[in-house]
Amino acid sequence: MNQNPMSEPIFADGASDRSRHLSASGNAAGPGLATAAAPLAETPSTHPLTGPGSLPEEHPARRAAVDGGVADASLLQELRGVRSDTPSVWFMRQAGRSLPEYRALREGTTMLDSCVRPDMAAEITLQPVRRHGVDAGIFFSDIVVPARLAGLGVEIRPGVGPVFDHPVRTEADIEALPPLGDDYEEALAPVREAVRLTVAELGTTPLIGFAGAPFTVASYMVEGGPSRDHLRTRALMRSRPDLWERLATWVAELSGRFLRAQVLAGASAVQLFDSWVGALGQEQYLEHVQAHSAAALAHVSDLPVPRIHFGVGAAHLLLPMLGAGATAMGVDHRLRLDRALEVLPAGTPVQGNIDPAVLFTSEEARFAEARGVLEAGAAAAGHVVNLGHGVPPDTDPQVLTDLVAFLHSQRVARAAEAPEA
Ligand code: CP3
Repeated sequence: MNQNPMSEPIFADGASDRSRHLSASGNAAGPGLATAAAPLAETPSTHPLTGPGSLPEEHPARRAAVDGGVADASLLQELRGVRSDTPSVWFMRQAGRSLPEYRALREGTTMLDSCVRPDMAAEITLQPVRRHGVDAGIFFSDIVVPARLAGLGVEIRPGVGPVFDHPVRTEADIEALPPLGDDYEEALAPVREAVRLTVAELGTTPLIGFAGAPFTVASYMVEGGPSRDHLRTRALMRSRPDLWERLATWVAELSGRFLRAQVLAGASAVQLFDSWVGALGQEQYLEHVQAHSAAALAHVSDLPVPRIHFGVGAAHLLLPMLGAGATAMGVDHRLRLDRALEVLPAGTPVQGNIDPAVLFTSEEARFAEARGVLEAGAAAAGHVVNLGHGVPPDTDPQVLTDLVAFLHSQRVARAAEAPEA
């Protein structure tokens, strides 16, 4: 079976998606850098809602801006390796506590309840787009929303993060995970509805859908909550690789179907967050994680939408993460983009990576950092500006608005002409 029936190449030079994955594995990397790409995992489910390979007729990515769609939006073009003169920007965690309108709307509703109320999720997604004029919305949800929709007991404790009622550590715990059948597909209805409401309002601004990668989500499940070093998760991986395999397979299906639901309902790009994967070495990543991230991404790889993959402290994993089936790499602020580009295959679009710390410095320092990031990304086939990690909750929102205006006032230096075609 062809697991990756890409109907439309999403790269400007027309290289097939599949050959990109292979080129990620064939790249001459620096010393000690793992280059292997997993064979793309079998898509573990059928997708009952549509046939593979095409976006629904009414999807915004099927229309250009003149017809109210996003097909030619510069942010998506950058992700496809087609450069624009003006930088495109969005911020991870642009929705949320830094915005007073968010805090007002959330009053009296728990975080996860607000995610499954379509009108609320849509409104919260739109707030930062209206206020800051960013070039994309990021769907307001959380990496543990799919687990909640599948029936697991999980909440988000303010100032703490996701906490599971029952940590998943033993064979019996894994056996007790709910099957991800039609019930789960139905449970995703509020997600689809929220995305539909959101894209109707966003118009010519694209919506980015997202999910948590298997390692990061499974880590919350195994630890029961946030953890500094993910010791239990990493121990499970080594001591009971069979159990880890079953858990990660389940999470890949959970997250993958969440991603697909968002894309079919109107998201025009996706980001797979593997926030805590930096805790792993290359060998552990390749042996125990890459194939599962690939399985999650394979749920949307037949659809013509860019796939961004992001991890924190994951400079040593850039290539294997790309090899999991991403088409663009998010880079955190610890690694300069020009250094990332030395490792990544030519033609790989990048996203990042303004240090969130500069949000708490002077405007001069912020703009200097932003200029530096634009310069470092100038040689990339495509570059979407972002922070190196999420917006901290105590950020002054005006600082973000001003940063977006500054970025939009800049011209991208054409250090290298975009793709070799
Ligand atoms: O604007 C956006 O980025 C969209 C929404 C979004 C949220 N979570 C909303 C949220 C996204 C993309 C996420 C992803 C997410 N969730 C990740 C990956 C990104 C990253 O930051 O690395 C992770 C690791 C989580 C798990 C999680 N959820 C954490 C660590 C926290 C913070 C806990 C805290 O209070 O400090 C959450 C809660 C959360 N998710 C909030 C928001 C807006 C804050 C909760 C609130 O407002 O009450």
